[in-house]
Amino acid sequence: GENQIMSDLLNRVTTLPRGFVWGGATAAYQVEGATKADGKGKTMWDDYLEEQGRFSPDPASDFYHLYPTDIKLAQDYGLNAVRVSIAWTRIFPQGYGEPNEKGVAYYHRLFKECIDHGVTPYVSLHHFDSPKNLFDAGDWLNRKNIDHFVDYARFCFTEFTEVKNWFTVNELISLALSQYVAGNFPPNHHFDISSAIQAEHNELLAHARVVNLYKSLNLDGRIGLIHVLQPIYPITNTKENQHAADLYDAFINRFLLDGTFLGEYSDETMALINEILSKNDAHLDIQRDDMEILKAASTRNDYFGLNYYQSQFIQAYDGPSGNEFNGTGEKGTTSFSFHGVGQLVPKAGVPTTDWDWNIYPEGLYDILKRVAREYPNSHTIYITENGLGLKEEYNGEDIIQDDKRIDYIDQHVDAVLRARSEGVDVQGYFVWSLQDQFSWANGYNKRYGLFYVDFDTQKRHVKKSAQWFKALADTM
Ligand code: BG6
Repeated sequence: GENQIMSDLLNRVTTLPRGFVWGGATAAYQVEGATKADGKGKTMWDDYLEEQGRFSPDPASDFYHLYPTDIKLAQDYGLNAVRVSIAWTRIFPQGYGEPNEKGVAYYHRLFKECIDHGVTPYVSLHHFDSPKNLFDAGDWLNRKNIDHFVDYARFCFTEFTEVKNWFTVNELISLALSQYVAGNFPPNHHFDISSAIQAEHNELLAHARVVNLYKSLNLDGRIGLIHVLQPIYPITNTKENQHAADLYDAFINRFLLDGTFLGEYSDETMALINEILSKNDAHLDIQRDDMEILKAASTRNDYFGLNYYQSQFIQAYDGPSGNEFNGTGEKGTTSFSFHGVGQLVPKAGVPTTDWDWNIYPEGLYDILKRVAREYPNSHTIYITENGLGLKEEYNGEDIIQDDKRIDYIDQHVDAVLRARSEGVDVQGYFVWSLQDQFSWANGYNKRYGLFYVDFDTQKRHVKKSAQWFKALADTM
């Protein structure tokens, strides 16, 4: 019966370490809704989503009003932490200027609710939701954006002193890649390699300047950033495929890890990056002082937030660049070919989701070991996102049977604990996501939550994964 299934699953990850951070993750724009409430300014998404007409960011999961419900669920189901982000445009509707008091008050209420319920808030300053006004002026490609971000961060640090755990930017690479390479985030450029690498560098600078600022303020708290890491494996072990893996790895993982934790781009990394740039007529502009700023911050991160969903398999490729994005959940509709770098291919025996994401827990183990080995300045690691997107429907009666999600989480937590037992300092795990929320380029039919959200009524329904999550929390 059901208890037997539960205990079989629990037997795999027998127990969580004492004091382990065990949480659920969210992002402001994906959960809050209320995009026009209380003086909020537009993000780069509002007009774009309206024009596109596929789905609306309202009401999302109405977290703006229902946060007490969700925080209570988190507490009831054994979560001792949540990841939330602050919407820059609730604080500064135009990205800068005078703070919007109602927005500020909302986050004080939210953080208090978390703390009162023993659910520690881990707070990011930027989660894909650039202010429209700054987006129009070039977003991260415009270096003035960095100044505005630093000012916004300073305001948050001195205002929200109840927050002790900060992250600067979420997933620099997803933003850069989706905006300028894969073309599925506004401004929808395809294979604009100069913009992508420049955005990576500029966002690293923004992060570094904010870390340096935070440390100079001598606040009582911790700060770091979040990278999503995607291990890249050659599809077969030829020299060409191995080189393709090295190139693409440099572009999406290594350049960012070097910049964050070494405070320099190593010669080997730059050789790979330069090869990609020259093959694609692209260039990167590094200005005087940039590297000093990165260097100073590289030893000051208190922790590292690591998001992991999938690994990639690659083969060498010299044809033209091109890609198709699977934004519908129709299996087998993804393709990605990067001129002079490689082509992503399926790997026999590796299962995929309906959105063609490879399910490969081994990759999480590998990347944790690599980060610990090559980047000791990363210090303590938190898995800040990991989870499985599914199409799910509530039948109005029974509990939602998301055994596939339980399997996914179970296998990945297992990989985390295995790396931990071999000395990698992982102190926590946040499932993506706490409650169902819409997905940026996929809409409302890609659900990740431990709690089902009926987007018409905003009712929450417990999924089996939430029960399993609680059963594990009880072993702590
Ligand atoms: C991460 C983001 O990229 O992955 C989340 O930080 C996002 O905001 C999540 O929702 C899952 O991606 P997707 O495309 O399936 O929603």
